[in-house]
Amino acid sequence: MKKFPLIVILLTISGFTYWAFTKRASPSGDDREIGIKNDIEDNSEYWESVTTADQTLVEYQPPNPEHDFYSDGPKTRDGIGKYYQGREIAYVMGHPAINWLERREREQEEAPTKALDLIKLAPGEVLADIGAGSGYYSLRIAMNHLNSRVVAVDIQPEMIDFLKGKAKQLDIKNVSPHLGKIDDIGLPAQSIDAALMVDAYHEFSHPYEMMASIAFALKPGGRVLLLEYREEDPGVPIKPLHKMSQDQAKKEMALAGLVWDETINDLPWQHFMVFRKP
Ligand SMILES: C[S@@+](CC[C@H](N)C(=O)[O-])C[C@H]1O[C@@H](n2cnc3c(N)ncnc32)[C@H](O)[C@@H]1O
Repeated sequence: MKKFPLIVILLTISGFTYWAFTKRASPSGDDREIGIKNDIEDNSEYWESVTTADQTLVEYQPPNPEHDFYSDGPKTRDGIGKYYQGREIAYVMGHPAINWLERREREQEEAPTKALDLIKLAPGEVLADIGAGSGYYSLRIAMNHLNSRVVAVDIQPEMIDFLKGKAKQLDIKNVSPHLGKIDDIGLPAQSIDAALMVDAYHEFSHPYEMMASIAFALKPGGRVLLLEYREEDPGVPIKPLHKMSQDQAKKEMALAGLVWDETINDLPWQHFMVFRKP
């Protein structure tokens, strides 16, 4: 008779533990349980039917710089000891940091919802999210723009797998995960209307080649949306190599032939910079 309450207590505790664990482990989180069905068909054949690209254009050729763009220098704790335009390139954030990218406090700290509102896509347009990571931005953009497409590019297969799993779980069909290379996004000529980089560009080990391949994939008039933590603002609690000043970004984008359009400074930690391919 005395065992009965004990069993009930044990069952209650284990039930609560299971609930709490699955709730926390769920990559969707409360704010992700959107469950929208969209009307775009399965994208598996997407790249075979890129009709927007001018198929007569030549294949992408990596730039052959006349001088060496990079130099070696002192390697600091968060950098790789390789310098571009006077800044040390940061280490790539590894996939074990997915939890940090997906952290709940991100909304309060960085206001990504505000940033997402600033990302405008017309129906049928294609945006490449480069350095997409866990897909935090890619999936939300896809859900906000059901008649557009997001190509989520990353170099870490683990990131791509996580993102794919989440897209499946949320039944998002207008995202095309895409494994890129460290120096080439590998998308066809003039196949994208916009490129987005959120907290990613500063860690590209080959920024010059990456931007050349992005410019190649953009249509004329296509835009580059660059979000970087503000180096000018000492109040932004991010490691120095993971920040970038506007002047630095403008200098580097100009080397890829991109023209600065505007900077929106409505976000708590980041610059939202807009560039355009002429
Ligand atoms: C700090 S994470 C940001 C992820 C995402 N944009 C976000 O804000 O949640 C940077 C990502 O850039 C990726 N990355 C680094 N170099 C890259 C490259 N050359 N091409 C594509 N992705 C790259 C890393 O693998 C990593 O997932």
